[in-house]
Amino acid sequence: MTATPGDMVWLRVVEEGVFRFDASEAGRAAAGPSLSFADPRRREVPREGGDAPAIHPTCQAEGPVQKVVVKLPSGTSFYGTGEASGPLERTGKQVFTWNTDAWGYGPGTPSLYQSHPWVLAVLPDGKALGVLADTTERCEIDLRQESTIKLSASSAYPVITFGPFNTPSEVISSLSHAIGTVYMPPKWSLGYHQCRWSYDSSEKVLKVVKTFREKGIPCDVIWMDIDYMEGFRCFTFDRNRFPHPKSMTDDLHSVGCKAVWMLDPGIKNEEGYFVYESGSEKNVWVQKADGSPFIGEVWPSDCAFPDFTSKRARGWWASLVKDFISNGVDGIWNDMNEPAVFNTTTKTMPESNIHRGDGDIGGVQNHPYYHNVYGMLMARSTYEGMTMANASKRPFVLTRAGFIGSQRYAATWTGDNLSNWEHLHMSIPMMLQLGLSGQPLSGPDIGGFAGNATPKLFGRWMGVGALFPFARGHSETGSFNHEPWSFGEECEEVCRLALLRRYRLLPHMYTLFYHSHTKGTPVAAPVFFADPQDQELRKIETSFLLGPLLVCASTSPNKRAHQCSHKFPKGIWLPFDFGDSHPDLPVLYLQGGAILPVGLPVKHVGEATLEDDLSLTIALDENGKAEGVLFEDAGDGYEFTHGDYLLTYYSAKLESMEVTIKVFKSEGSWKRPKRNLKINVLLGGGAMISALGVDGEDVHLAMPPESEVCNLVASSELARKKLFEIIRPIPDIDEPESQQEGAEFSKTLVNLKSGDWLLKVVPWIGGRIISMKHHPTDSQWLQSSIEINGYEEFSGTEYGSAGCTEEYNVLRRYLDQSGEEESICMEGDIGSDLILQRQISILKDKPNIVQIDSSIKASVAAGPERLSR
Ligand code: NOJ
Repeated sequence: MTATPGDMVWLRVVEEGVFRFDASEAGRAAAGPSLSFADPRRREVPREGGDAPAIHPTCQAEGPVQKVVVKLPSGTSFYGTGEASGPLERTGKQVFTWNTDAWGYGPGTPSLYQSHPWVLAVLPDGKALGVLADTTERCEIDLRQESTIKLSASSAYPVITFGPFNTPSEVISSLSHAIGTVYMPPKWSLGYHQCRWSYDSSEKVLKVVKTFREKGIPCDVIWMDIDYMEGFRCFTFDRNRFPHPKSMTDDLHSVGCKAVWMLDPGIKNEEGYFVYESGSEKNVWVQKADGSPFIGEVWPSDCAFPDFTSKRARGWWASLVKDFISNGVDGIWNDMNEPAVFNTTTKTMPESNIHRGDGDIGGVQNHPYYHNVYGMLMARSTYEGMTMANASKRPFVLTRAGFIGSQRYAATWTGDNLSNWEHLHMSIPMMLQLGLSGQPLSGPDIGGFAGNATPKLFGRWMGVGALFPFARGHSETGSFNHEPWSFGEECEEVCRLALLRRYRLLPHMYTLFYHSHTKGTPVAAPVFFADPQDQELRKIETSFLLGPLLVCASTSPNKRAHQCSHKFPKGIWLPFDFGDSHPDLPVLYLQGGAILPVGLPVKHVGEATLEDDLSLTIALDENGKAEGVLFEDAGDGYEFTHGDYLLTYYSAKLESMEVTIKVFKSEGSWKRPKRNLKINVLLGGGAMISALGVDGEDVHLAMPPESEVCNLVASSELARKKLFEIIRPIPDIDEPESQQEGAEFSKTLVNLKSGDWLLKVVPWIGGRIISMKHHPTDSQWLQSSIEINGYEEFSGTEYGSAGCTEEYNVLRRYLDQSGEEESICMEGDIGSDLILQRQISILKDKPNIVQIDSSIKASVAAGPERLSR
């Protein structure tokens, strides 16, 4: 067969149905090693036998840029693209993989904190294909053309295709076989996490935890943000506010609460500071082009940055982590690791910086080569440090920046979101999208990070967020308090119910994680996973699956979950609750044919024991059958890998008006504990019939005659209706005005056009530029073409005040006579009686340059003058 132009050369790799495509043999040889694969050699070694690929990407080289196109049948739906805001279904979208500190991002922000050059394509017939551009460099994922994937990056890279397989779930598993499955999280990390930037003393921390216990609201973990450090120096504790960290963590542990502490990559550039001195001695810093350490500004002001691309630096960091753990640290939070650098237009370090990477991951390279993996390598090193501290404990690391494959080392969250309804809505597809990109352990800042939640928003967010794989409430310093009890008693009750629900479902969620860890199956999945052929399910964003459990939420302020008309996949879906139905909580359904293991409503994971009563909630299918599975082990450590666990497969069968529940298979060396078993067989409308038994023994339950079933269903529906009439939902309180206006205002983009440029400016203080197009290439990057004229995107004051709660006034918009040059002049109050004025213009005689002039004026003088303009 002769190759047509654009054909790529291919190899079979990893497993049946997985192929590697390169532009040419030379391109294959030129491609850098894989950082996404768990075992990079598996991308290099051809496999014998098997079918040839069914889908052939084509490729074009434009200078150094490799452009790959995958054309799929009309009616294909796209997902994945990693951590991405905006809709679940990605047709029409364009993502640029470039890890970015994206405070207050919006639905159209093209680059967030993580990079996953990956697309999951669900074909019209429900089969699915995955496409990975295996490059660490900036990569454009262009899905603007229907059923077409276009990928481009500026050097040779392989494209790996997974499938087509029969289901999207098989594609995710196959991807996980290549990039590694999620590490097995310690069970406590699946409990609720309470975080806030401003828990700035041991007393405050202990008081928050005490309040959780007093109020009977479940919580497993308290988080320490940068507030605990001595002047933002990593690995130190403020001697006045956190004088005895070990004794504080002992106190926390005594009430069953774990402690997670933040570690940022920016290390204060200061003689005498032990971390800086030892890092300099070990020569671990990222370097400037001239070979001297790069110094950039983050919280502690001038900082050096560990070069996590070398084993030497990772080992140095890991040994610091190891020592740090002795303070009773249970988990570590890696933040700002895009890496974020203040007072720069690019928000990160210069591209000319040098990383002295090890040969096996790509060797010495400039920053763009490693930018997208810096956060993952930091998380890896932190994970390794925790393992060094105690090899018999599972590390818990949360990372903000990441790359496809990060799930091997860390969980993630969706960064600095906003306390508004749009962000509550986006949090569901964002969490799902990460799961569809290989990272199942994720969630948002519940309640929103920046701005002030209202009681209704907070309660609703907790209702659904409590069922996300990773559930953590977090908020920005300076905002109102955002603990579950901060929004009035109705909201507090909703939060209590939501979290108790999570804890009852933990046996099931932990089992889902065991399967995800061992087989690569998703934990939370979009509704269409239950029937990939049904096109009508493919855009659903307010419901999601946790295995056979369907969670139906509402993200609208004006409608509650039970008032929405939810679309169901085919088959039987039976509603149920734990006697906890509430208008502000999502509605739960169980798929016909499923058995759901349910635990007790404990207040933290350590409170549950193996001997506790176990419940099985059962939804029979059309044939009167159901099956379910439960994984139990020590909840931490690695004994489960040596067989120390109990994996129980339950079955239920209806025959001659009797349902028999059995254990039909068990695995693992653990003996079944003596415990009570409660069986709840769902009948519809929330009604159920129950029986008691002993786990491991058959339980028989008489099915009532059809007429009685109808009565039970009708009276259950009536009881719920009556309950909803008397329950006090979270009251409607008007959203704070300034926040509303600001949020609305921030969506109104100002377009500036001239010459080759199209700029979309968000008119907040500072006039952030959110997207920029340079027509000839269609993919120009913001940081590569801006001329700075005194422009500082993040000064300290501005960081704290910028965003949707601030307004600015447009003073002038100016279009010159010929229509070729446009500028906008804006001003806003930045506090302390100061006004920031900013003029953004595209110069007539230099159309490829954007000029940004900023100045700060005293507002007292500016006030009346402004009014008269
Ligand atoms: C930025 C993080 O995204 C946020 O979660 C954290 O509270 C602040 N940094 C302060 O450390």
